[in-house]
Amino acid sequence: MLQTITWTGTAARLLDQTKLPTETVYVNITDERQMWDAIQRLVIRGAPAIGVAAAFGVYLGVYLTPDDRFTVRLEEVCRYLATSRPTAVNLFWAIDRVRRVAQSAKSPQSAKQKILDEAIHMLDEDNRVCRAIGEHGVALLEPLKDATGQINLLTHCNAGGLATVQFGTALAPVYIGKERGLKFHVYADETRPLLQGSRITAYELQQNGIPVTVICDSMAATVMRDGKVAAVVVGTDRVAANGDVANKIGTLGVAILAKHFGIPFYVAAPTSSIDLALPSGDQIPIEQRDGREVSHGFGRQTAPTDVDIHNPAFDVTPAELVTAIITEKGVIQAPYPRHLSALME
Ligand code: MRU
Repeated sequence: MLQTITWTGTAARLLDQTKLPTETVYVNITDERQMWDAIQRLVIRGAPAIGVAAAFGVYLGVYLTPDDRFTVRLEEVCRYLATSRPTAVNLFWAIDRVRRVAQSAKSPQSAKQKILDEAIHMLDEDNRVCRAIGEHGVALLEPLKDATGQINLLTHCNAGGLATVQFGTALAPVYIGKERGLKFHVYADETRPLLQGSRITAYELQQNGIPVTVICDSMAATVMRDGKVAAVVVGTDRVAANGDVANKIGTLGVAILAKHFGIPFYVAAPTSSIDLALPSGDQIPIEQRDGREVSHGFGRQTAPTDVDIHNPAFDVTPAELVTAIITEKGVIQAPYPRHLSALME
């Protein structure tokens, strides 16, 4: 499987996801400004991947800092990287984590090494967490086989390997299931405006030999009505304490459709995406992105010049529409407030 982030010894090497599916290009990130830009422009994207990238960004921002400026500089770099994107809590979780590790060190030199070690550790940890999500998810999905033994899923955006270090959250059960001989078919919503579903999800599933069909977002209702989907599985950028989940714009519509057609709606989330500090999804900051992503999305202008554009990058699905949340620690269902806080203890 493709790896989204690797450490070269001097740089964080990122797979440039803005170029997929037609070009496989890697970029070497050597300072925190380049990392901020890579996160903001979605060179690296997906909540878990953003977190790990930011951890390397902190290291790249401080490793040349003289000892007498280290503490101030660490704060500056952490605060700066935290402004790259607002919705995925993994960004803030990862920055806090490396900041704490640095603060526990006895000297600036040791703090720098500890930040780097922690970021490298996060690469392996992410793979372990994703595999565990996959194990729990496959147990949930296996009973949904159709008469031919196939498990038919729909997903929105990309919460596969390319949204994490390597393995994925929503697509992890598919990869683990395949290892065990299960058969899957996935409908990938193309996911306007930036097409993470058709550019990235369809690409990685195809690369990994999983049958995939791309549909326009507006086709999900028909596909569900026609009985072609046994479950929806999506990722999330942040889960609030009441179980509301933020994910790529359009996810809310998919959840409403799934409820209408009686199809389970599963959310895969590492515990690093759970934010018990926010009582409900109403408090999750929703990123607003440049209107040109909508008006010039296909390499040409597709809306009148100067027309008003609304471009929220995420929406919030209320907990009542979520059948279960699949985490690395197990699967939880409503009542979410109680089960989420028990899970995080
Ligand atoms: O804007 P993106 O591409 O970063 O949005 C990504 C998503 O919405 C994913 O579904 C989410 O981060 C979960 S990734 C495991």
